Amino acid sequence: MTPAPVIELRDATKSYPGGVHALRGVNLTVHQGELVAVVGPSGSGKSTMLHVMGTLDKPTTGTVRIAGYDVSQLSDSRLSALRARHIGFVFQHFHLAAGRDAVDNVADGLLYAGVSLRERRTRAREALAKVRLEHRYSHTPSELSGGEKQRVAIARALVGDPTLLLADEPTGALDTASGEIVMELLHELNASGTTICVITHDSEIAASLPRRVRFKDGEIVSDSRPIFPTEEAGS
Ligand SMILES: Nc1ncnc2c1ncn2[C@@H]1O[C@H](COP(=O)(O)OP(=O)(O)OP(=O)(O)O)[C@@H](O)[C@H]1O
Ligand SMILES: [Mg+2]
Repeated sequence: MTPAPVIELRDATKSYPGGVHALRGVNLTVHQGELVAVVGPSGSGKSTMLHVMGTLDKPTTGTVRIAGYDVSQLSDSRLSALRARHIGFVFQHFHLAAGRDAVDNVADGLLYAGVSLRERRTRAREALAKVRLEHRYSHTPSELSGGEKQRVAIARALVGDPTLLLADEPTGALDTASGEIVMELLHELNASGTTICVITHDSEIAASLPRRVRFKDGEIVSDSRPIFPTEEAGS
């Protein structure tokens, strides 16, 4: 049986006032269990697409289906619920709350999951153990290295057991060794069933991932594993 599509973008465009066309008609299907590298020059639309996939941003035209839901049909509260249940984010610069320890930063990943603070903290400790940070529970971001901060961010993203993990240059601010640990964690998560899209400027990392989607000027210009002929861009 073919795994279900987790992400379906159809003719997705994103324009900004002043004539910026960040996405110019993107078609992309990502199935459950995939691990996809998104590559392309600066300004080509990678982050824009990730935000659209993550329902942080709406496309100007076109459709976005996540886990089978057409996101344009959902109310704000249903959309927040979809995000809380299905999507985890990791960013280049971690986006952790200063002054809050690792456990509480991760527990915040469950804020909209409807569980008690006590339960959130218990699950946060488990998630931190998964990224091998059990010795850093009470450290605040300023007491963590860059690589450790990114592992806290990954723990926050995975604590809700998301269907889909979206990572925007998760190794971009890290040294090679820390970057490798982060990529190992993403591979482990993927092996346990999480679908992952990761934007990277690192050609070695991209080459090590099973599928590569390349952007240029707001369009997909190549896809190492297109699902439908219409997605075979770059002709
Ligand atoms: N809020 C915004 N308002 C106007 N233009 C925007 C906005 N966000 C992004 N853009 C423009 O959209 C285009 C695509 O930006 P995007 O951030 O998706 O690129 P990117 O591929 O992620 O680049 P990088 O590799 O530098 O992160 C760029 O030209 C950018 O200037
Ligand atoms: Mg970007």
